[in-house]
Amino acid sequence: MNKLSIRDLALSGKRVFIRVDFNVPLENGTVSDDTRIRETLPTLRLAIERGARLVLASHLGRPKGKVDPKYSLQPVVTRLREFLGRQVDFASDCVGLDAEAKSNLLKNGEVLLLENVRFHPEEEKNDADFSKRLSMLCDQLFVCDAFGSAHRAHASVVGIAKYVKQAAAGLLMEKELAYLGKAISNPERPFVAVLGGAKVSDKIEVVQNLMKLADAMLIGGAMAYTFLKSQGKPVGKSLVEDDKLELAKGLLEQARSRNFRLLLPVDQVIAESPESTATKTVDIAAMPDGWMGLDVGPKTVEFFGKEIAKARTIVWNGPLGMFEKRAFASGTLGIARSVAAATKSGATSIIGGGDSVAAVEQAGVAYQISHISTGGGASLEFLAGEILPGVEALTDKPGK
Ligand code: 3PG
Repeated sequence: MNKLSIRDLALSGKRVFIRVDFNVPLENGTVSDDTRIRETLPTLRLAIERGARLVLASHLGRPKGKVDPKYSLQPVVTRLREFLGRQVDFASDCVGLDAEAKSNLLKNGEVLLLENVRFHPEEEKNDADFSKRLSMLCDQLFVCDAFGSAHRAHASVVGIAKYVKQAAAGLLMEKELAYLGKAISNPERPFVAVLGGAKVSDKIEVVQNLMKLADAMLIGGAMAYTFLKSQGKPVGKSLVEDDKLELAKGLLEQARSRNFRLLLPVDQVIAESPESTATKTVDIAAMPDGWMGLDVGPKTVEFFGKEIAKARTIVWNGPLGMFEKRAFASGTLGIARSVAAATKSGATSIIGGGDSVAAVEQAGVAYQISHISTGGGASLEFLAGEILPGVEALTDKPGK
């Protein structure tokens, strides 16, 4: 990466503004999944060890530019204190007198967390004045460790970089870019992409880009039904995006003409509704009227599993069925186990998107995966070949 790293900064005695992605799920006022907090700890610890004064900023949820206590970052303070084993101060607004005073009082190695930046509408507008006000909380040093937000051209991610001397990547940002970057620029082959989830429309650019880069693509989940219908297969009541049928057909034709292995499910677990537990497993061409596909079947798990076993690089985004329901979880969990087994035999596996991450956790194989991305939307945009604004905004390394 040709961007400055936090390791390049002279941090001692300086207030550094660190944009993290603490957009974590909350339940009854406490953090119910702290993965994103844990993943930033190497960056925070490095800054502390080097004597920086840490000003942390994040968004949480989508409060639409208004103060909404439901989206306060206050619950994160407790978790951060536990992890860092030190006091973490909290400013009840991310700009203004309280934040300025508290940031000025910081001593070397001390930490201040700012309230949700999205409580201000200027954040999402990437407003110049707001960006400048955020930059006043630091001594011209900005670190972006919020890979999960790097696809958002917002003030605390992009705008602020203009008003500091140095804008550098944090260690999590570097790790994410290293894994995902290698997968799309210099993958060990065979490179197999596994895509699932509900909608083709969410992943069109990813499918198009990965068709150029990967050796095979395995498609499952509800999105497979748009492809299947475009081939004239019966899909019953399955979720289909009818306005994307032509596009799906075009992608399949493209794949055929280029001899690209774009593989679809060969069997499926079906029910009359997602609520029903009366399921049947049938071949892909045997969908009865009034039924819908909710998971890939065992033959597909085996078929896809063989491709995964041959791979040296695997990128997986999106579940292959409605795995949050037990009756429709086998396909996704089976694929999770195949990806873990391939990783054990030396493949590099990269998983992005909250659902696929939850699936590897449910299958008990998360620890075997090479890299679990903290970015859902960000990793998808990266895999689609887009330049992430939060990365572009960082300072180039000297001489680049
Ligand atoms: C995410 O959870 O994907 C990131 O934190 C970005 O959140 P957003 O989609 O609300 O911008």
